[in-house]
Amino acid sequence: MWISTLSVFAVAGASLCAALPTELTNFLLVTTSQLNPSANSSELKAVSATSLFDPFNQPALLLRLTGPGYGSLPNFTLTSGTLSTIASAPFGGAKYRYNSTVVAAGKELQFLASEQPAGNLALDEGYLLTVNGSREGWTICEGALSNDVLSWKGNGTTCEKTYVHAVTKAPY
Ligand SMILES: *[C@@H]1O[C@H](CO)[C@@H](O)[C@H](O)[C@H]1NC(C)=O
Ligand SMILES: *[C@@H]1O[C@H](CO)[C@@H](O)[C@H](O)[C@H]1NC(C)=O
Ligand SMILES: *[C@@H]1O[C@H](CO)[C@@H](O)[C@H](O)[C@H]1NC(C)=O
Ligand SMILES: *[C@@H]1O[C@H](CO)[C@@H](O)[C@H](O)[C@H]1NC(C)=O
Ligand SMILES: *[C@@H]1O[C@H](CO)[C@@H](O)[C@H](O)[C@H]1NC(C)=O
Repeated sequence: MWISTLSVFAVAGASLCAALPTELTNFLLVTTSQLNPSANSSELKAVSATSLFDPFNQPALLLRLTGPGYGSLPNFTLTSGTLSTIASAPFGGAKYRYNSTVVAAGKELQFLASEQPAGNLALDEGYLLTVNGSREGWTICEGALSNDVLSWKGNGTTCEKTYVHAVTKAPY
């Protein structure tokens, strides 16, 4: 794992600096078992794209893992510790700017179509999504309708640890 990560750095060389999402304003979120960034998101270990979903027409949208064959992926900005993205309201409604709520342990990452107070999210080194400054704690847990849903410090039996990276290009 580490050898291959290093070789990515070695091969990518100078172009890696340009590709690192340090100046991202608009980015996609992916899950991966890899801590270090990759110039090519397809090469992140166990990488998965993510998209918003709404299992039961509830107000809060969640983030789930999405395999190949999706139509489009949501892009995000991060301001005052809060992620923001444009999405359709339940029932195929109008599009709104959805904002992440303050992340809490044992809860899914949630987005509401309303203004939110300053959040606790940040991008460490410009790519790694943290909560309260912690890089580790993201979990993928089997949620509603057998979706793999992103949460913070999920402790159910189906939960697996993951990192969340901001990337410019979809991995697939
Ligand atoms: C990224 O990596 C994938 C998988 O290794 C490869 O197929 C693709 O060509 C790479 N893309 C670029 C732009 O290098
Ligand atoms: C971000 O998503 C919006 C809404 O889906 C889309 O209109 C826009 O083109 C996307 N921006 C980028 C940079 O991909
Ligand atoms: C983040 O830090 C605040 C202040 O210390 C604390 O109240 C909150 O529980 C922390 N949240 C998480 C998810 O760790
Ligand atoms: C799981 O997390 C929730 C919320 O933090 C907590 O109330 C519960 O006690 C935890 N369960 C276990 C088994 O750790
Ligand atoms: C989301 O937050 C932004 C900035 O705080 C705000 O402009 C926007 O109106 C919020 N979205 C909704 C649907 O209220």
